[in-house]
Amino acid sequence: MGLLRRLYYQSEVLPRIYDVVHEQWENARYLVDGYRFDSSLAVDTTEVIDKKLLGDRCSRSYVATRPAVFHRAMHRLIDRCSLEPALCDFVDLGSGKGRAVMLASDYPFRHIVGIERDLSLHETAQRNLAVYRLQTGRGHRVELLHADARDYRFGPTPQVVYLYDPFDERVLMPVVGNLARAVHRARTNAYVIYHQPLAQQVLRSRSDVDVIDYDIEDDVALFRLGWAGSLH
Ligand SMILES: C[S@@+](CC[C@H](N)C(=O)[O-])C[C@H]1O[C@@H](n2cnc3c(N)ncnc32)[C@H](O)[C@@H]1O
Repeated sequence: MGLLRRLYYQSEVLPRIYDVVHEQWENARYLVDGYRFDSSLAVDTTEVIDKKLLGDRCSRSYVATRPAVFHRAMHRLIDRCSLEPALCDFVDLGSGKGRAVMLASDYPFRHIVGIERDLSLHETAQRNLAVYRLQTGRGHRVELLHADARDYRFGPTPQVVYLYDPFDERVLMPVVGNLARAVHRARTNAYVIYHQPLAQQVLRSRSDVDVIDYDIEDDVALFRLGWAGSLH
């Protein structure tokens, strides 16, 4: 009886212990990777900013992408779609303190754009980018915009759009609509790298979108949005 009770108790408790340990482990990895990135470049991207401090309409907190997660996603996209960054623009919607646009500068994109709605995050990103340029000699193709992602007009060049859980479906819907109009007008493709894809249904429900891949470990989904006739 004692053993049975103990097993019952353990089956209730063990998953909770696992969740707590897992969360602590993920937080530690986030901080270690983040401070390594920041100290190697003398930038400031790691501190999490709660959504309550990000203005009235922000639905998500600021958290930066882990460099290893970003690079794995880029390599998967390049491999799976035979993507040539030199023929594409990179756009980070919700660019925060600019870590993802700095990471994107490791690839030969034509143009790299970061769009951030919160002014203080945008200003931090500008300071980070200035230091990054001095430190590395890279980042000269990066442009940072203080704007709402819904107001961004995508260009005719194939776009690689990066989303790290920046907003919910009410914002993602018009953003994807804008992207689709640009893609259909230019008869090209766009690619979406979506980390923590909580509103991915917006993409999955469209007939002009293909799901390329989903990595469960990193929680990154890859999508292709194509003009009529370019898919399948
Ligand atoms: C999880 S952070 C990602 C930061 C950065 N992309 C990275 O990967 O390191 C999401 C960012 O989206 C921004 N954001 C939320 N809604 C937005 C909107 N409508 N337009 C532009 N930025 C937005 C937030 O202020 C926050 O900085």
